[in-house]
Amino acid sequence: MSDLALLGGQPVRTKPFPQWPIVEESDVQAVAEVVRSGAWGRLGANQVHEFEKAFAAYQGAAYGLSVNSGGVALELALICLHLPRGAEVLVPAYTYMATATCILRAGLTPVFVDIHEDTYNIDPARLEAAITDQTAAILVVHFGGLSCDMDAVLSVAGKHNLRVVEDSAHAHGATWKNRGLGTIGDVGCFSFQASKNLNAGEGGMLLTNDAQIYTRAIEYHDLWAGGMLEREGQLGQGSMRSGATWDYPVAASSNRMPTYQAVLLHRQLERLEEQTELRAANGAYLDDLLDDLEGIQPRRQDDWVTRDSRHLYICRYDPDAFDGLPRETFIKALNAEGIPAAPGYGRALHRTGLFQDRNGELARFWNRNGGEPDIDYQSAPCPVTERLCAGETLWLSQNVFLDTPEGMTHIATAIEKIRASATDLRSSVE
Ligand SMILES: Cc1ncc(COP(=O)(O)O)c(C=O)c1O
Repeated sequence: MSDLALLGGQPVRTKPFPQWPIVEESDVQAVAEVVRSGAWGRLGANQVHEFEKAFAAYQGAAYGLSVNSGGVALELALICLHLPRGAEVLVPAYTYMATATCILRAGLTPVFVDIHEDTYNIDPARLEAAITDQTAAILVVHFGGLSCDMDAVLSVAGKHNLRVVEDSAHAHGATWKNRGLGTIGDVGCFSFQASKNLNAGEGGMLLTNDAQIYTRAIEYHDLWAGGMLEREGQLGQGSMRSGATWDYPVAASSNRMPTYQAVLLHRQLERLEEQTELRAANGAYLDDLLDDLEGIQPRRQDDWVTRDSRHLYICRYDPDAFDGLPRETFIKALNAEGIPAAPGYGRALHRTGLFQDRNGELARFWNRNGGEPDIDYQSAPCPVTERLCAGETLWLSQNVFLDTPEGMTHIATAIEKIRASATDLRSSVE
């Protein structure tokens, strides 16, 4: 008789994994101080700029610009590159929708490229085949905080004169060959949305080493950009105060980060390194434990991955090793054992409503942007992404990796326990 928790037995894990976010009294005090000061907006206060400098330095970039979301950071990054209207941007089919919608919102055309099943990152071997004379950029995603093969990406980009944007929404503190992710291509974009390893509920940042991109980003992110540019020494000190007016040179919108948000992020940045080390160590330990288990395959950690932020811990589930138990039942059983696993994305990005309904919103979009491109999202094949979404993927989120090593053994033990009773479980749900 099975002792699986899903069938009424005792769970492997009885206490919850660490909650996210972690709130310290000093966070509350820091935000309260800003609230009391009345200086809530970015203009006229220094805290946002101080946080930008600190995060850019932490990640290893020359410049950082805070904005109100990771998606906006991506959109601004593409706008700042001044690519030709409608130009194609290569993007992985397995990522959050914002990585595709930012391309559309910048007036460009997403072209989906399949991922590699061992890494869940864009498959560099498929890049060349997706390049046309319209291709202008590659938008890579360091998915879950695991670095893409940037040597391969940069080499293809160099050969075809393409710009490289890094969606680093999951990659705070993660590195490629000991360099901070988001600092390797032309622009890197981070999210500070609630689930992220560094968060203020919402928010984002754009990093770059290119002074021109940084200046453009300031201009596009803020109709009042003159004041910031003056402070940066790019307009000449005193020019705004001496009465010169800002002449609105670009079609900007307001995407500034408020002061209390930057203060909350700055407080958490002080804890990020320690938390990232803990997640990395626990993640590596779980990799070792799972390597010995049949039917569960953690992601490959290539030599260039000098630190994985473990924002999402992803592994592949092989139902054959569990007597054909469907992934959904396996996840239910894991949850019952006290392990908060999830299936992740249900479909590839080009299978979402936006890209499938070509007469709906997508048609309105092409109308606004100079006509329909010669791309058929209905038949765009990304077989690896589709297979992994359909029934093979498991996610664990970053807060699990703030636990003790014992927590990692609970995960491996629960998986083994389910495998040992997979036949009983399958027959009980059939
Ligand atoms: C891979 C990826 N890119 C971009 C974003 C967008 O970030 P935001 O929600 O801050 O706009 C997210 C958010 O979850 C994401 O997961």
